[in-house]
Amino acid sequence: MPTITIDQEKCSADGLCMAECPFLLLTPREDGVPQLVKGAENMCVNCGHCMAVCPAGAISVGGADSADFPRTDAGLAVTIPQAMQLFRGRRSVRVFRKDPVSRADIETLIDMTRWAPTARNLQPVHWMVAEQPHVNRLAELVIEWMRRNGTLPEIVEAFENGRDMIHRNAPCLLIAHAHEASLSPQVDCAIALASVEVACQPMGLGACWAGFFMRAAKFYQPINEYLKLPEGHHVYGALMLGTPAHRLRRIPPRAAASVTWR
Ligand SMILES: Cc1cc2nc3c(=O)[nH]c(=O)nc-3n(C[C@H](O)[C@H](O)[C@H](O)COP(=O)(O)O)c2cc1C
Ligand code: SF4
Repeated sequence: MPTITIDQEKCSADGLCMAECPFLLLTPREDGVPQLVKGAENMCVNCGHCMAVCPAGAISVGGADSADFPRTDAGLAVTIPQAMQLFRGRRSVRVFRKDPVSRADIETLIDMTRWAPTARNLQPVHWMVAEQPHVNRLAELVIEWMRRNGTLPEIVEAFENGRDMIHRNAPCLLIAHAHEASLSPQVDCAIALASVEVACQPMGLGACWAGFFMRAAKFYQPINEYLKLPEGHHVYGALMLGTPAHRLRRIPPRAAASVTWR
């Protein structure tokens, strides 16, 4: 419940904060200067839009000063062809070099996801970064779960023969977890992971969703005992991460987008 203050001296009554607030928490007084609607501070999600849009820096939420916010840099804007290549060039990487991923790169990627959208700006995503030998140990636990259930015996057999189709011997497994009581933990974690998968490419890294692990973590308690997540937290997604062993040179076709216009 952040405190929202409006500096009457600085405010030019341009109405921008009122137009941008997602919950219409600011309305104009007679002189056009914004005032808070009743209960505004209870409804505010601290998204920062009002502060980000105000050229005069007249509004403060939670005591923050927008002069401290970094400015967006027009010179760093990506072109449409660059954006197309980034998204179309993303591939599920399953053959990794053995070298570990630098912790600095992982920290940069995780830091970037702090700006991914989350339902009601709750920012519920937590990370566990598993490196080797934990990645392989977690793959063994997934195989143990499959063996008990009798599921996918061919994958179990391949694993026994030295072919890890669970985590592909990736040097790193990025696990996104959140409290089950959050509003939309599954979607919030998926968005954060999808952002990592796209953004890791310029670092020379590649990723693949760890679907078998995600499913096993849902049902197999020994995996959760191994992870020791905080009380009430669940795994909502995971990515294998590493340096691709091969360069995937071409962009394979995909089905045409199915779109209905109304
Ligand atoms: C799963 C999900 C549901 C959301 N639903 C709404 C919505 O119904 N209405 C809305 O205005 N914003 C919605 N948002 C946007 C969030 O409120 C927004 O991401 C958050 O306030 C942070 O602001 P930002 O995206 O500008 O950084 C949603 C975001 C997510 C991830
Ligand atoms: S921080 Fe977001 S929700 Fe809160 S008053 Fe500003 S624009 Fe509205």
